[in-house]
Amino acid sequence: MLFGKTLLITGVASGIGARTAELAAHMGADVIGVDLRRPQAAAGAFIEADLASAEGVAGLLARLPRRIDALCNVAGISGTLGAATTLAVNFYGLRALSEQVAPRLREGGAIVNVASIAGFGWRANLERAKLLSEEPGFPDVAAVAAKYGVKDEECYPVSKEALLVWTFRAAHQPLFRERGIRVNAVSPGPVETPILTEFRRVLGDARVDDDIARVSRAGTSPDIAPPILFLCSDGARWINGANLAVDGGLEASINAQVLGF
Ligand SMILES: NC(=O)c1ccc[n+]([C@@H]2O[C@H](COP(=O)([O-])OP(=O)(O)OC[C@H]3O[C@@H](n4cnc5c(N)ncnc54)[C@H](O)[C@@H]3O)[C@@H](O)[C@H]2O)c1
Repeated sequence: MLFGKTLLITGVASGIGARTAELAAHMGADVIGVDLRRPQAAAGAFIEADLASAEGVAGLLARLPRRIDALCNVAGISGTLGAATTLAVNFYGLRALSEQVAPRLREGGAIVNVASIAGFGWRANLERAKLLSEEPGFPDVAAVAAKYGVKDEECYPVSKEALLVWTFRAAHQPLFRERGIRVNAVSPGPVETPILTEFRRVLGDARVDDDIARVSRAGTSPDIAPPILFLCSDGARWINGANLAVDGGLEASINAQVLGF
């Protein structure tokens, strides 16, 4: 399904991004990987870029080919670097890259955003998520964090809530929709990657252990990569503006508790 397609994948130096790049290359895609750090074994081409700033995104754009089939926004950070940097990487950098790559995406192409079960609260916190997702351009992230009172300890979930709301909206934004570019999200639960140790510090052991206990084990990168690539493929051509839980049933369990069924 991906043979001969060009996939731009961020966060390829570790965890979910590395596995997604490896699997895509295995399936015959031409992979252009992006990360802050050079991967130990790059699957395809690699471009070093920092997605936390407008300059970093612009520098990356200048090095990309004119035609891309799909963009997988996998790069992300846990929140330990504070609200401003976390909003920059997890949301504003991702959005800037998506909007700037859009003209190079072929008609019927796809964008897949890796969000998280941590963004589950987007409905409860809708007003803030809407306002964050509406801030134009690549804003001054420190000023945005201050304006909406985003505290360091909550910045990771807040960044993913904004990402989910933007995903739903982007699917209907003319920039993407007029050329049939689908925009979807994948939301993992806890996954055994280097970031999980940091989540334990940010979210607390109790929250992470409870999430894992609900579904018997943590996920692994090989659990998450195939659904990301499915959403890139033409097999997902009628899936747009969706958030796919890839969490062994965690979201269903939380829904049952929160909604009472
Ligand atoms: N592991 C989990 O438990 C889990 C759960 C839910 C969602 N996620 C999400 O999955 C995605 C991938 O996380 P992972 O688990 O593979 O973590 P990871 O730490 O293994 O990989 C993240 C990658 O992103 C890169 N990155 C970070 N900041 C960057 C920047 N400014 N510019 C470019 N690249 C940058 C890192 O260098 C790293 O290679 C993230 O968006 C994360 O929020 C992870």
